[in-house]
Amino acid sequence: MVRVKGSPLLSVLLVGLTLAIFAVDAFTPLDVAIAVMYVVVVLLSASVWSRRGVLLTSAACLGLTLLAYALSHAAYFSGPASGRMVVSLAAVGITAWLVLHWQAATNALIAREEALHCSQAQLAHVTRVTMLGELAASIAHEVNQPLAAIATNGEASLRWLNRPQPDLDEARAAIGSLLEAAGRASEVIRRIRALARRSDPSHLPLALNDVALEAAGLVRRELASHQVTLKLDLAPGLPLVRGDRVQLQQVLINLLMNAMQAMQRCAPGQAVLVLQTRACERGGVTCSVTDTGPGIPAEHLPKLFDAFFSTKEDGMGMGLPICRSIVETHGGRIWAAGPEEARAGAVLHFSLPAMGGHSA
Ligand SMILES: Nc1ncnc2c1ncn2[C@@H]1O[C@H](COP(=O)(O)OP(=O)(O)OP(=O)(O)O)[C@@H](O)[C@H]1O
Ligand SMILES: [Mg+2]
Repeated sequence: MVRVKGSPLLSVLLVGLTLAIFAVDAFTPLDVAIAVMYVVVVLLSASVWSRRGVLLTSAACLGLTLLAYALSHAAYFSGPASGRMVVSLAAVGITAWLVLHWQAATNALIAREEALHCSQAQLAHVTRVTMLGELAASIAHEVNQPLAAIATNGEASLRWLNRPQPDLDEARAAIGSLLEAAGRASEVIRRIRALARRSDPSHLPLALNDVALEAAGLVRRELASHQVTLKLDLAPGLPLVRGDRVQLQQVLINLLMNAMQAMQRCAPGQAVLVLQTRACERGGVTCSVTDTGPGIPAEHLPKLFDAFFSTKEDGMGMGLPICRSIVETHGGRIWAAGPEEARAGAVLHFSLPAMGGHSA
């Protein structure tokens, strides 16, 4: 059962209000149905207490109505007073019934939303791992490059040291390059591990340009094998955004992969992908991925971000819905340019709010 968040101050106020109604009802000679005011107590109790609390409050209000009647009319029977008491009991009872129904429906809705959020996170993780599988060749290449550099520099430094007159400066320089390559390799591994890990998103200050560069690095091999030219057009001095690095990388990789897949039939040298970042007018940062593929037909635009919408034989139709879910949990929005903007190919934009600071 989902608990309603309680406020101690409101709880105290409710108890005070209940006692005040009881005091006026039991000890003043007013000939009005004061006990009907318990309806307010029952209504407010739903925003402070859970189901059991509402039940107890309603029972207490009913009990106090009867007690006040007994105290004020113990000596004589009054028809109008009894009528008012019955009306009050009915009003409090009906309100309690309605409030409990409303609370149950709200709790069910909250539970469903939580379940949805949880399954979205799981799905995002599964597609990330699938994406890693697709990027396996790129990743192998990314790691292989620094490993080859380590081997070459290691051999070179040995040669410099094994000379009859060892050249220590050259050996030192080769070992320096070797260490640099080792650092690069472990950085690649760290990025891949972060993508594969199933961790809760952590929202930290980020420079979107760095995320763009990392995402571009992860698809580098893919770009080469598809013969796609990537142009980076990253604006300097953009405001920082608050976000999860891995999730935003996932958004960018999805957009880059879609663009590459769309340009599969381009003539050699015609496949050009532009990854652009800009400050947006209302603060924040906009990132755009533009390609020279066939573009997105106008009739597909309204359903582009729907789950399972895909025009590819082997497409799941989950890339863009996941991008939207990630961008929206970052307080941003994602959209595809209409035909008037995207004259040749497709343009996908997403924007994120700035967090106040400025990147270098
Ligand atoms: N750059 C693009 N150019 C043309 N069409 C695109 C582009 N990006 C997306 N689309 C269209 O949007 C559809 C949905 O994309 P989405 O990434 O959600 O799914 P998918 O790529 O088909 O499958 P996957 O779940 O494997 O990513 C694609 O099938 C394609 O028709
Ligand atoms: Mg896709």
